Amino acid sequence: MVRLSKLATAVALLVAGTAAIAGEVEVLHWWTSGGEAKSVGELKKIMQEKGNTWKDFAVAGGGGDNAMTVLKSRVVSGNAPAAAQIKGPALQEWAAEGVLANLDPVAKAENWDALLPKVVADIMKYKGNYIAAPVNVHRVNWMWANAAVLKKAGVAGAPKTWPEFFAAADKVKKAGLIAVAHGGQNWQDFTVFESVVLGTGGAKFYNDALVKLDQKALTSATMTKSLETFRKVHGYVDPASPGRDWNLATAMVIQEKAAFQFMGDWAKGEFTSAGKVPGKDYICAAAPGTDNAYTFNVDSFAMFKLKDAAAQKAQADLASSIMGVQFQEIFNLNKGSIPVRLNMDMSKFDDCAKLSAKDFVATSKAGSLLPSIAHGMAVPPAAAGAIQDAVSQFWNDDKISVADGVKNIAKAAKTQ
Ligand code: GAL
Repeated sequence: MVRLSKLATAVALLVAGTAAIAGEVEVLHWWTSGGEAKSVGELKKIMQEKGNTWKDFAVAGGGGDNAMTVLKSRVVSGNAPAAAQIKGPALQEWAAEGVLANLDPVAKAENWDALLPKVVADIMKYKGNYIAAPVNVHRVNWMWANAAVLKKAGVAGAPKTWPEFFAAADKVKKAGLIAVAHGGQNWQDFTVFESVVLGTGGAKFYNDALVKLDQKALTSATMTKSLETFRKVHGYVDPASPGRDWNLATAMVIQEKAAFQFMGDWAKGEFTSAGKVPGKDYICAAAPGTDNAYTFNVDSFAMFKLKDAAAQKAQADLASSIMGVQFQEIFNLNKGSIPVRLNMDMSKFDDCAKLSAKDFVATSKAGSLLPSIAHGMAVPPAAAGAIQDAVSQFWNDDKISVADGVKNIAKAAKTQ
């Protein structure tokens, strides 16, 4: 996660920096898995069709922690890329440093206010001006399951509650297969954690504990119960999990080695690129207990202030392309997410995407549309990073008691 305190001189350095090559956009992102690379390839194609040169700046590492570290050092040394994948409250921090370009000329001309859900538009703005272009809506609280593995284990459909889940997981284990495919990296542990908290405590509890960071909620009996369940899930993960990339965990489900994965719907991008069909080869279902809620993760690109007019034009092209109908469809078909642009034709999308689109609207009305803390949407990077560390320490060390886990997480939540 980013800490921007050392960026004070960055603006001056940036403005003094070398002019970019005409029409070139250097784009920092962390989309390197099969499904992700295909998706970002579509953006590159559209930009090239508009006569621009795409300079790929991919930093591997799901969740983007590595990418954010690299971005910070590039900006501090006065060499910011034209655009970077930055999301959620981190956008506000970067904007406050004065290094981001104002996208209002494009946003106003294209009437983004009318094209975006308000909850998304608000995240993209700093002091009322657009500072980022949103790409998609990912739902995080998914559970992916291999249909053949469930059948082999005698599990009838996706479990809907945590007790049902553990009963199913026991059957999978008995059948000699791995119940939960998991990559042991902090952001993945955190992803599972937020779904467990949501499934245990419900939307209001999630909001109090993981969005408002309310100490009463964070130290409550519901948080204790959440950590007990979280630890229990860990018991179904194979010993080779530590360090594993998320897409390799998805591959275990695709290849019938494991039954379930808790992951956002970028996992669907992997199923799609492997030619798998939802409802037949695999099942997408809300994580146990989270049917009526939705943790969202909106990817977006911010543009850095550049002096060169051609570079600025390329940035405007990028912002406009991202919000365009053509990109919103093709990118999201590959990525597993849904378009962020309203009123898109969803006929080419699969049932998982259609369910996501329906639930996005329904939960927004019901007050259970929630920002994902694990994906940088809910709280500023410093607090999110500290909580993520405390969650992973608990996940990886059975000697830390549940009571201490609760205390550590609550303490981490005070980080500013
Ligand atoms: C998320 C990002 C997704 C996906 C995932 C794994 O943070 O929003 O688009 O790429 O990381 O890399």
